[in-house]
Amino acid sequence: MALRQIRQYGDDILTKKAKPVREFGGSLHLLLDDMWDTLREQEGLGLAAPQVGALRQVFIVELGEDTYELINPKLVEFDGVNERVEACLSIPGKQGNVERPASVKMEALDRNGDAFVIETDDEMLVTVLCHELDHLHGILFLEKATNIQDRVDLEDEEEEN
Ligand code: CO
Repeated sequence: MALRQIRQYGDDILTKKAKPVREFGGSLHLLLDDMWDTLREQEGLGLAAPQVGALRQVFIVELGEDTYELINPKLVEFDGVNERVEACLSIPGKQGNVERPASVKMEALDRNGDAFVIETDDEMLVTVLCHELDHLHGILFLEKATNIQDRVDLEDEEEEN
């Protein structure tokens, strides 16, 4: 496993659409393991593959003791509205308010290619899932944010994805 460099705002790869994963073997597992190392080193909550230069539909999320790996994720249901302060490992020093659904249902594959479903109304988890899914579509939170500000210490509200 190894740390990978996080691509920064202005890098073209962050605005491109990621491609579906077709092979669930060693190279995917290496990518995921490197992403975990990189996310934990940065103390972020989520990381999408394009942020480390891999234009693949892959993201990971860690909230407390709960970890998630989503391959080829699809948002199949959503409801309500939830606005939180977001930040992004690819856009250091900025934060902004973003409206997300209050609940989502996503379908995805795991690292072995087996399908699973996440259905949650945990607003922080929904926010991180939607932020990371946007990365796979080349969308950055700044495009959706209001009240964009220089980063302050968010403490409990901190959400760096
Ligand atoms: Co981000």
